[in-house]
Amino acid sequence: MKKDSRLLRIGVLGCGPIAQFAHFESCTKARNADLYAICDVAEDLVERMAATHAPTRRFLDYDRMLADPDLEAVIVATADAFHVPAAIRALEAGKHVLVEKPLGQAVEEVEALGRVVRRTGLLLQVGHMKRFDPGLQAARDFVAGEMGEMLALKAWYCDSTHRYVMTDAVQPLPVASRQQRRPAGDPKADLRRYHMLAHGSHLVDTARFFGGEIVELQARLKESFGARCWFVDVGFAGGAIGHLDLTVAVRMDWHEGLQIYGEHGSVVARTYNPWYFRSSDVEIFHERDATYQRPLGADGHFYRRQVEGFADAILHGRPLAGAGIEDGIAAVRVMAAIARSVETGRPARPAEVGGAV
Ligand SMILES: NC(=O)c1ccc[n+]([C@@H]2O[C@H](COP(=O)([O-])OP(=O)(O)OC[C@H]3O[C@@H](n4cnc5c(N)ncnc54)[C@H](O)[C@@H]3O)[C@@H](O)[C@H]2O)c1
Repeated sequence: MKKDSRLLRIGVLGCGPIAQFAHFESCTKARNADLYAICDVAEDLVERMAATHAPTRRFLDYDRMLADPDLEAVIVATADAFHVPAAIRALEAGKHVLVEKPLGQAVEEVEALGRVVRRTGLLLQVGHMKRFDPGLQAARDFVAGEMGEMLALKAWYCDSTHRYVMTDAVQPLPVASRQQRRPAGDPKADLRRYHMLAHGSHLVDTARFFGGEIVELQARLKESFGARCWFVDVGFAGGAIGHLDLTVAVRMDWHEGLQIYGEHGSVVARTYNPWYFRSSDVEIFHERDATYQRPLGADGHFYRRQVEGFADAILHGRPLAGAGIEDGIAAVRVMAAIARSVETGRPARPAEVGGAV
């Protein structure tokens, strides 16, 4: 991989699965970033990861990593419950932040983080890495540039019962440690909440990436045979109507994608499980000459591409291609509104909800 002359010195907080599967390699391969430091409370894990990925520095204590004057940015790759406090500590130490999705678990905590981002003037990007899927990026360019008015958007994210068989076949074996820090309580004790945070966060961000702000919604949840299906009718600020389908898990292959109907064309996209590192299959229909366009998107390493976008924004002032703080807050608000709508059976407005997802 050819490297730029100026590299963003990144420290990764957490040596768990997502760091092992995505962030260490992404920082190493990114043309404009350097895996400067890694940090975890689990010493054995840090040693194993340092031997493989060769960061310049290694830390067992987050505050010591943040005190390093050469460190410029942090990737927060910890459990959801630690995202907001870890991001705030990094910002207060003067470091830019790329924080894993979801930004947080409740409206109030992400709003508090938003205030710190605005006060410090530092950059915060949320790890909604599907925004770096080249197929989806080509579709987004069409929607923003040529499609004209959006009539409607349908998006679906349906995890498969066979998912772990598939991902175990392509991912390296994760290395675990008894010393790893876990949040209090079991995040999987409430599966409605867990699935919404883990999977719904991707669906909501993709819908917003294409459709813009979601101003109102009405959600229904059906639970049967251990599966959960949320159908959500949404209204976008631009006037388009939408339908979101989050199902965990379908009795078939991974099933994720979207359809968009616009004034001067349409988009149909099929998205793969991310661990195949394969760009979405996208068909863009241009009404002007009645042709279909099907971008290849050869570079499907969304995780490396999101690090490159983050570093370009910090080092060269390029516009943020990823999800920023307002996108992260909006996604949490939409997920909380879905939860309130399911609880009450009534419509909910993301701008007006509070509380946990
Ligand atoms: N974007 C994606 O496709 C994707 C995929 C999987 C997971 N994720 C997200 O990644 C995040 C992390 O997932 P995971 O499975 O790697 O989590 P994990 O909890 O298994 O691992 C996190 C690691 O961070 C360490 N840690 C936590 N707090 C620490 C602290 N204060 N100081 C030092 N070390 C600390 C823990 O010891 C642990 O080793 C989750 O929020 C998840 O939603 C994103």
